Amino acid sequence: MIKKPNLNLAYALRTVQDNRNLYAAWAKDYETEFAHQMDYVLPQKVAEIFVEIGGVGPVLDVGAGTGLAGEALLKLGIESIDALDLSGAMLEVASNKKIYKNLFTEDITQPIKTINYLYQGIISSGTFTHGHVGPDAIENLLAVAQEGACIALSVNRDHWFKNGFSIKFQELDDKIERLLLHEVSIYGNNSKADHRNDLAIVVTFKKV
Ligand SMILES: C[S@@+](CC[C@H](N)C(=O)[O-])C[C@H]1O[C@@H](n2cnc3c(N)ncnc32)[C@H](O)[C@@H]1O
Repeated sequence: MIKKPNLNLAYALRTVQDNRNLYAAWAKDYETEFAHQMDYVLPQKVAEIFVEIGGVGPVLDVGAGTGLAGEALLKLGIESIDALDLSGAMLEVASNKKIYKNLFTEDITQPIKTINYLYQGIISSGTFTHGHVGPDAIENLLAVAQEGACIALSVNRDHWFKNGFSIKFQELDDKIERLLLHEVSIYGNNSKADHRNDLAIVVTFKKV
């Protein structure tokens, strides 16, 4: 029996199956009990940065969850957005919003099997963080990106330094270009919770 989900439990996850279980239990309340209460602004910031660097659709929203980043992208005029997430329960909430064309239930720590399409853009908000996904998954994302695709991924700032994201980007040097790091707040001024000062790095780059 899983405890009522919250951010501390999410950060303490260890395995992919832990993630599936937690998000299955969190899906219906994720927006009211987490995003709204925490004034979670990261999806909006990732979408804005993607547009600022010249990102266009078709876009794959990775770790799309209930669709907050997809909604933000759509409001900024980006059309043709697909969603990918490990959690079928989170994707079910996203699907009801009718913002995504296609939804894929996949684990990005493994090669992506169900997508036989190359995207012009990839975004991700909140998925490269403690207890979730590390830097090795970036290669699996590059495999579904077209040459020249714009990519904007948020990485929790502490997770970035603890888990060797800089080293991974050095290793990817011949596969990507125009690497930029944008430091942003994950939560807004109305957040009342412990983690309100947490930061993310939104890393942007293009596939060569
Ligand atoms: C904090 S939520 C972020 C959801 C949404 N992008 C947002 O910003 O609200 C993290 C999401 O990553 C997904 N996730 C965790 N591990 C994953 C994996 N290995 N592959 C794909 N998605 C994963 C979870 O199911 C969850 O929906």
